[in-house]
Amino acid sequence: MVSQTVVAGNWKMNLGPVEAAKFARELKLPRGSTSEVILFPPALSLAALKEGLGPDSGVALGVQNVHWEEAGAFTGEISVPMAMQAGATFVLVGHSERRHVFGEADDAVSQKVEAVLSGGLTPVLCVGETLEERKRDQVAEVILRQLEAVLGPQDIRSKLVAGSRLFVAYEPVWAIGTGETATPADASRAHGILRDRLRERLGDDVGEAVPILYGGSVKPDNAGELLAAPEVNGVLVGGASLDPASFAEIVVQSS
Ligand code: 13P
Repeated sequence: MVSQTVVAGNWKMNLGPVEAAKFARELKLPRGSTSEVILFPPALSLAALKEGLGPDSGVALGVQNVHWEEAGAFTGEISVPMAMQAGATFVLVGHSERRHVFGEADDAVSQKVEAVLSGGLTPVLCVGETLEERKRDQVAEVILRQLEAVLGPQDIRSKLVAGSRLFVAYEPVWAIGTGETATPADASRAHGILRDRLRERLGDDVGEAVPILYGGSVKPDNAGELLAAPEVNGVLVGGASLDPASFAEIVVQSS
């Protein structure tokens, strides 16, 4: 069983340190919310956001990408230990923009998940089909291939069975930033496919505890019905997480 609903915000390449500090000042989350709230600012804004939120905000922080090596000659990259030092506890891995804009393939996603788990952080693995794949009726095939890149390696499975956490986010590419949202039934169907594979690969207890989030044009006015759909354990919000009021409203819907 997934114990807590998750509301996560992916800022993508938006809000620098100055705007992140302003966001932190303006964010008013509902008191007593039982949801797990996570923000993924750009890595450069993480320190300002952390400082602005303060130690008791109840908001966890993550980075949007990492390299799988711990250090070295990899200009422009950041590593898991660096993200950890900066205060991140989560890492997005395999977001569709990483896959489709930057050509990140399943083997890189797998190496990154392994590195994140080894470093003691929690990966949020993003999977999802393109519109063409959906039209060709390949939703299950694509999302299971992307999931299997991570559940295939024995090393990763052993870590998960031994207690490391994994989150999965189903983000159909055609629903990202387009205003098109999967219906709650579409989301439930895809999440159910992922859940079955998680159980098969990790055993019932571990497989059932992996939160599966839905992402793609989640807004305050559709978050409630998506969160109420079977097998939807949370949401990964892009555009609507840039505004503190709309992000807080989604957290209200989740409680
Ligand atoms: P939007 O909510 O802007 O569609 O973005 C979704 C997303 O990609 C979150 O990771």
